[in-house]
Amino acid sequence: MNIILLGPPGAGKGTQAKNLFADYQIPQISTGDMLREAVRRGTALGKKAKPIMDQGRLIPDDLMVGVVEERLQQPDCANGCVLDGFPRTIGQAEALESVLSKLKKRLDAVISLEVPEEKLIERISGRRNCPNDGTVYQVYQNPPKRAGFCDKCGGGLVQREDDKEQAVKERLKIYSAETAPLKSYYSKRGLLTSVSGVGTPAGIYVEIKKALSKP
Ligand code: AP5
Ligand code: MG
Repeated sequence: MNIILLGPPGAGKGTQAKNLFADYQIPQISTGDMLREAVRRGTALGKKAKPIMDQGRLIPDDLMVGVVEERLQQPDCANGCVLDGFPRTIGQAEALESVLSKLKKRLDAVISLEVPEEKLIERISGRRNCPNDGTVYQVYQNPPKRAGFCDKCGGGLVQREDDKEQAVKERLKIYSAETAPLKSYYSKRGLLTSVSGVGTPAGIYVEIKKALSKP
């Protein structure tokens, strides 16, 4: 099953992609996580992406499409994947369509997580990440047991560079202008289900599963 999780910054795409992986064993393909890893490792892609990401802007489509095309060909994607943060523009959606058809795969569903802007800002400002194992916390709603440290590995938690106020504003603006139009793109193809992304992560996941089991 190949699924796209669509939604603005802070909507819970990463959180729900991990639930889908646990249930269906289909890997999360988070272009944001892949780019952050490239930045951390100092690769050519990472060097190009860092200043763009820090400002909350989008990496050019051709670069992103190449990264995803390569990732989709890895063996763990044989039974499907959850695309988190890709596609983000109509150009990326069109490119994905041709990549999937070239690889003889098909898109099964697009879930759009709907969350009002004030909640997004609250969530993002409280997000903390573990750079060692990727665990994500929310200091108000899902805090670590010991403030500032990962429950699983004990490592120090960090705040993403683009979770600072100015970058968040830019990310929200770009989502409305470039990514939100994908809802009508996928709705026209009969693939879109909108799910409220407000509530507990477990409650939201129940709704996602319902949407995926629709005939
Ligand atoms: P990316 O990493 O994809 O960031 P994003 O889309 O802005 O989304 P986030 O990761 O901020 O939010 P999320 O929806 O995953 O929410 P999460 O589950 O963490 O992209 C970053 C940058 O990379 C882009 O700005 C761009 O520069 C570049 N990029 C990436 N992909 C690209 C592409 N395709 N093309 C071009 N450029 C690209 O949840 C958020 C917080 O809320 C967490 O703390 C979580 O614990 C908490 N939370 C989750 N669910 C709930 C809930 N139900 N209730 C309360 N709290 C919750
Ligand atoms: Mg994410």
